[in-house]
Amino acid sequence: MPEISVRRLTQAFGSARVLDQVDFTVPDGEFVTLLGPSGCGKTTTLMSIAGFHTPDAGTIAHGDRVLFDAAARRNLPAEQRELGVVFQSYALWPHLTVAQNVGFPLKIRRVGKAEITRRVGEVLDLVELGHRAAAHPHQLSGGQQQRVALARALAHRPSALLLDEPFSNLDAKLRERAREWLGELQRELGISTVFVTHDQTEALAMSDRILVMNGGRIVRAGTPEEVYHRPGSRFVADFLGRCNFVTGTARRTGADTVLLEVPGLPGGIPCHGEAGSAPGIATAAIRPEALILSEPRTGAGGAGWQAEVTQLTFLGDHYLYTLQVGPHSLQALSTRRVHGVTVQVTPAPAAASLVTDEPVPADREADLGRAVAPSVLRAV
Ligand SMILES: Nc1ncnc2c1ncn2[C@@H]1O[C@H](COP(=O)(O)OP(=O)(O)OP(=O)(O)O)[C@@H](O)[C@H]1O
Ligand SMILES: [Mg+2]
Repeated sequence: MPEISVRRLTQAFGSARVLDQVDFTVPDGEFVTLLGPSGCGKTTTLMSIAGFHTPDAGTIAHGDRVLFDAAARRNLPAEQRELGVVFQSYALWPHLTVAQNVGFPLKIRRVGKAEITRRVGEVLDLVELGHRAAAHPHQLSGGQQQRVALARALAHRPSALLLDEPFSNLDAKLRERAREWLGELQRELGISTVFVTHDQTEALAMSDRILVMNGGRIVRAGTPEEVYHRPGSRFVADFLGRCNFVTGTARRTGADTVLLEVPGLPGGIPCHGEAGSAPGIATAAIRPEALILSEPRTGAGGAGWQAEVTQLTFLGDHYLYTLQVGPHSLQALSTRRVHGVTVQVTPAPAAASLVTDEPVPADREADLGRAVAPSVLRAV
């Protein structure tokens, strides 16, 4: 199936720039997620691809079909774009049955009655709702309604799927099941998918690639592991989960490794930091699970720091520790319950990475030559 390419989409509402040069590609069969806080422009981007929103500038293509080109005044109507859309609110028609809802996109495409019946049966089986074809949406649970919306998006055999927070109305347990189920279905169909969410767990669990948005811009792009472990900026590190930030002086130790020397943390913090970044004052992001806890050592020597446990929270499958190491307050996650008020903390090798204070737009980041902008590493 052809790839989707979005180039330099821009949209302003009054003086507010809602989309600022949004630029990305969804390769054939990939599951790409737009992740970002409320109001960052996710829905506006998705609806622009779907054809329900017309941006001020930019282009959108699906393979060699141009769907939208502001400069050339080309704007293909939504129903001619061959995309399947699930809206943030599902948007099921309450007066139509499940089968009628699912068959609607086929009806407007003037597909014959017998063929509609056959295809509706097919997609309802796919979403395991064949037995509820005659029900009305209000007779279904939130999870079932979400599956009807997905069946409707798939009925006309779209060549790509656009999903806007499809699980937002589901409870935690159901969300997890819906995630697994959608992931399996997407891989089975091999259908290119753009998925929108503000839930980082959902994005990490489901995506081949994540595009992190903030203020109408894509500020980070990469695989879930890349964006989680090499966030590049404080904003992305923070948005993707719990994170400690420590500032110190960076000293290069290898082609892509740096030692952050921090007063009060003897031995410093080994970090990932690309070549090209000048030494100087820098900030490292360290995930709580990258701080390894052990029983306190007696006597001097050995790696790590002595810490005082100031708070311990039981979170079911692990413990969240708040630790005081000299002047630094750090959070650590561990499945182990380490007894006593003093513990030994050791940062996992290269588990930390340098971050900038400002999110750098993903396209400009490439120009800066990698994950960490040298500008933050001010020479001292
Ligand atoms: N028609 C409109 N007129 C004016 N402002 C708009 C319009 N549509 C969207 N906006 C603004 O554009 C920004 C982006 O909105 P959008 O719906 O794309 O955000 P979102 O990332 O999907 O957020 P959420 O997670 O809350 O759904 C918001 O600040 C919103 O208020
Ligand atoms: Mg939205």
